[in-house]
Amino acid sequence: MSTSKYRTIFEAKPGELEELKNKAKQDSWQPIYHIYPEYGLMNDPNGLIQLNGEYHVFYQWYPYGAIHGMKHWAHVKSKDLVNWERLPVAIAPTEKYESHGAYSGGAVVKDGKGLLYYTGNVKYEDGSRTANQCMAILHEDGTVEKYSQNPVVEGVPVGYTGHVRDPKVWKENDMYYMLLGAQRENETGTLIVYESTDALDWRFKGEVKTKLPDFGYMWECPDYFKLDGKDVFVFSPQGIQAEGHNFHNIYNVIYAVGTFNLDDLTFDMEYYREIDKGFDFYAPQTFEDEQGRRLMFSWIGNPDVEYPSDQYGWAHALTLPRELSLEGTELVQKPVSELTKLRDDAVHFRGRLTDEEVIIDEATNNAYEIDMSFTNIEASQVGFQLFNSKEETLTLVFDHEKEEVRVDRSHFKHQYATDYGVVRTEKWESASCVDVRIFVDKSILEVYINGGKTVFTSRIFPQKDSKSAVTVFAKGEANYQIAYYGLSRGI
Ligand code: FRU
Repeated sequence: MSTSKYRTIFEAKPGELEELKNKAKQDSWQPIYHIYPEYGLMNDPNGLIQLNGEYHVFYQWYPYGAIHGMKHWAHVKSKDLVNWERLPVAIAPTEKYESHGAYSGGAVVKDGKGLLYYTGNVKYEDGSRTANQCMAILHEDGTVEKYSQNPVVEGVPVGYTGHVRDPKVWKENDMYYMLLGAQRENETGTLIVYESTDALDWRFKGEVKTKLPDFGYMWECPDYFKLDGKDVFVFSPQGIQAEGHNFHNIYNVIYAVGTFNLDDLTFDMEYYREIDKGFDFYAPQTFEDEQGRRLMFSWIGNPDVEYPSDQYGWAHALTLPRELSLEGTELVQKPVSELTKLRDDAVHFRGRLTDEEVIIDEATNNAYEIDMSFTNIEASQVGFQLFNSKEETLTLVFDHEKEEVRVDRSHFKHQYATDYGVVRTEKWESASCVDVRIFVDKSILEVYINGGKTVFTSRIFPQKDSKSAVTVFAKGEANYQIAYYGLSRGI
């Protein structure tokens, strides 16, 4: 008999799912233009792919409330990355080889079909676990079917614990490669690779030699891609110590840039950095779309953290789709251009601030975009107050003296994850100008600075009945030029 945490969607009691949906709908913190679950808990984006013009996004999902229970793959699709349609659950863990969840993984296109790879998570009564790598097929009509010969990789290779998961598959030189996050028997994190000629039969190839020997105890959700002439790895290491501006969340995400040699799996790393500097960002995944763009979605959330919206029986969202590029070794993230479709008419503001605060909107519905720049800055600080009511405010500050940009969410009644701090920062080399794009969606904040060189993604849970304002300020003098858009369309 399965306990409730390990129930699949097919084991719902009569009326239970309808009830869950209705409860979640009561919550005004639900976003209107980000991808989020109608009910239950979402985490990692999975199986990102564009097939015959349509974008498919899958995500980790547990239906019965805001807890990390039996993971399914939920499914949405879109023609334009803006309007999303919900589809029936794609993968439910009904088989022995996935008895405790269909965990994360990626997709690859083969012969006009999408091959979806995922980890069958298996737990034993003594608390130990193993992992099977599995496959499902995404057909042209959007239906998903498990591969009849699953698993494609049974168990874990010698030298690793049961923590081997999150396959990311790509094709190169007529071979298929599968990258997995893994934990060595000495409890350090790493990446391992399998190879295959047909994407079905896999052979263990070895470990990626990364020059990051002591970097946490487990690396989750790895990704690999070529971008602007370099090789890039992205992964979510667990067990990294905070230092300076970096690694303040419970778990963190990095990208590493260099040259990867597929023959001997050496990665000549030139640079690595945290991808996103906000409070709530984990387990991103990328894919190449039919226009050749490298796009990324991420989970806006963290594992092992409770969120204020949990009481409504739903949790989390995905970031907006971001187009990636490299400037030197710096990853640049831009919201995809299609997102301008969300915009209502622009309202423009411009002027010179002199030790003052200017109100952009005094009673916002918290669904808007700001596209702006500060220029001719002669101020110790410039910035914004968002979600700003009598009792609460979120500040985004460019601080000349501290040479940092700061997001401060300390002034909210609904606090969470405070063990990990209430302020996030990144180095900001004081300059006479800075450009900022801000997306607010009810309880989500995404901030893109200087064309996406620094990004903060965070959840904010303002009090339900408060009307909030948006203001821009300078301590000292600065010019500002703002286009402010209400955003309306939803999933
Ligand atoms: C990352 C992760 C993955 C795993 C999935 C389970 O958030 O822990 O490693 O596949 O979530 O939901």
